[in-house]
Amino acid sequence: MTSGHSTSLAGEITVRKALASDVPHIQRLISPYVERRILLGKDNVTLYGSIQQFQIALDPEGTPIGCGALNVFWDDLAEVRTLALDADWIHHGVGHKLLDGLERDALDLGVGRIFCLTFEVDFFTKHGYLEIGESVVSPEVYAELVRSSDEGVAEFLDLARVKPNTLGNTRMLKVLSRG
Ligand SMILES: CC(C)(COP(=O)(O)OP(=O)(O)OC[C@H]1O[C@@H](n2cnc3c(N)ncnc32)[C@H](O)[C@@H]1OP(=O)(O)O)[C@@H](O)C(=O)NCCC(=O)NCCS
Repeated sequence: MTSGHSTSLAGEITVRKALASDVPHIQRLISPYVERRILLGKDNVTLYGSIQQFQIALDPEGTPIGCGALNVFWDDLAEVRTLALDADWIHHGVGHKLLDGLERDALDLGVGRIFCLTFEVDFFTKHGYLEIGESVVSPEVYAELVRSSDEGVAEFLDLARVKPNTLGNTRMLKVLSRG
């Protein structure tokens, strides 16, 4: 896809659950953002192991142009992560469609609160996310989450060892409407 395509094509974008064969596309989509330290890099083995978390956006020809994942932290808390678009498709509503799909996944799983750690504050604010400061989990849940080896959980907990990764990011939370 070249830049300058019609924005009306956004209506033909589809979003579906990821397939295992999408992993190379996910790597392609996230790599420019990983290089700029906007997103955390993931090894292929990690992406295959978490492929069920992913939604993929496809252009009208069926080429993957965006991805995003929902990682469940706790009984009523998940994180939107690894949300990334092909640069040619920024500002065409694709991020909106992916986020909608991930929020539907959260509701399907019975999870009503979604966290994200992002530079894209305007995008998430327009989708109902609010900035948060302190931890939004009880000390008991914190004590269990801290046992995780997942870097995203460490970032959520704001652990000292990951602070260099999170500089300049904003912590945001959305409470989903179950209606
Ligand atoms: C964050 C990100 C996913 C947003 O995706 P996006 O597809 O550009 O977002 P959308 O198109 O849904 O919305 C952005 C803008 O496009 C507008 N838009 C939506 N549909 C449109 C259409 N069909 N035509 C033109 N503009 C449109 C939206 O109204 C919005 O405009 P506004 O900001 O002026 O209100 C993308 O910028 C990205 O990949 N960023 C880098 C990675 C990252 O930071 N991820 C988040 C942390 S996990």
